[in-house]
Amino acid sequence: MSLKSKFSIALLLSFVLIFSMVTLAAAQDTKVEIFSWWTGGGEEEGLQALFEVFKEQNPNIEIINATVAGGAGSNAKAVLKTRMVGGNPPDSFQVHGGAELIDTYVKTGMMQPITGLLEEWGVRNNFNQQILDMVSHEGEIYAVPVNVHRGNVAFFNKAILEEHNITPPTNIYTFINALKKISEESDVSPLALGDKNKWTAGHIFETILVGTLGPVKYNGLWNGSTSFDEPGVRESLVVFKEIMNYVNEDHAALTWQDAAQRVLNSEAAFTIMGDWAEGYFKTLGWTPNKDFGWVSVPGTRGSFMVITDTFGLPEGAPHPEGAKAWLKLIASKKGQDTFNPIKGSIPARIDADKDKYDPYLTDSMHDFATVTLTPSIVHGSAAPEGFVTALNDIINQFVTTGEVDNAHQRLIEAANEYL
Ligand code: GAL
Repeated sequence: MSLKSKFSIALLLSFVLIFSMVTLAAAQDTKVEIFSWWTGGGEEEGLQALFEVFKEQNPNIEIINATVAGGAGSNAKAVLKTRMVGGNPPDSFQVHGGAELIDTYVKTGMMQPITGLLEEWGVRNNFNQQILDMVSHEGEIYAVPVNVHRGNVAFFNKAILEEHNITPPTNIYTFINALKKISEESDVSPLALGDKNKWTAGHIFETILVGTLGPVKYNGLWNGSTSFDEPGVRESLVVFKEIMNYVNEDHAALTWQDAAQRVLNSEAAFTIMGDWAEGYFKTLGWTPNKDFGWVSVPGTRGSFMVITDTFGLPEGAPHPEGAKAWLKLIASKKGQDTFNPIKGSIPARIDADKDKYDPYLTDSMHDFATVTLTPSIVHGSAAPEGFVTALNDIINQFVTTGEVDNAHQRLIEAANEYL
């Protein structure tokens, strides 16, 4: 054998050796860091239930649970963004499907496509297509949707409504009458709000907006076919202002969980919140249909304000094999059916085990399949980050000032600037 051939074989062998060492090291990731803002009741339990299954399936991988409290639009998103932009990504992180994922992280080249992984795991076709579209860009999928939340829900204390002879309101007029009746006949807060984190007031506002515009015009706001000059936009501010007359005075000091707790303690009748509040109520021992009831936010029966929590694979994730094991779990039927019944959400997969879901979630599954889906602004699906921040600021100031025309004008300006 010539010296040259010996040298080539030696070179080849070293490559094989280095390659196997790298693969082995990757396959043996001993850690995985998962970032989310799931620290509150229901959310934390859902996450922990997933972690338990993960540990059974991957006994050698330690989970680093990186959480920052606050929910949508809070500090958590800023912390995540700083890490991502600074080249210090977690292995996988919670991000909403839609603009929040695609504009902030995919178009900027910070995420790896995972279409091939979903195909390899044989789950590519098990997801709801509209939800998959929210995590896709130019033909590639960039995150696993773990759930579908509904934003436009009004939860209520059944005993209080019965006591005041109120049937669950379905339009804005009967809703305002109900709030008024409770305020006249008792000391409880008609509507519990906790807007210590700005997004919760924006959350109520967007559900009113979908009601005054209707789902089709609301969806048109995001493709330019509906203008923010539309009378329904101004009308939503008028209705929102009216409703704010019935919230607890200390709302700025409370979180959404504190507000939900008021309903649970019979100190408030209603709260408008995404159905993560359902998970929260259940964690605290309340039973759907017995202790608490729900209606779609009055006036929004034909809309499903859709929110999807997703996890992807960042470029430069320090433990990619750990991240893939995590994604594989949350993409599986077992993962989704473990997490969602606790979280108060429905699965993004279409083949869930329906028996595992309570009456509220069964109702949500039915509506999800039959009414018009409207993406949430506040929860990052409908509009880019700049608009979401502007809207949250405008609505928070509006809660204090009540100046309808000023708020409307600022919304129009924000739309011109960011949409
Ligand atoms: C939403 C998120 C939910 C829940 C909620 C409040 O943005 O999609 O899963 O975490 O915030 O914390």
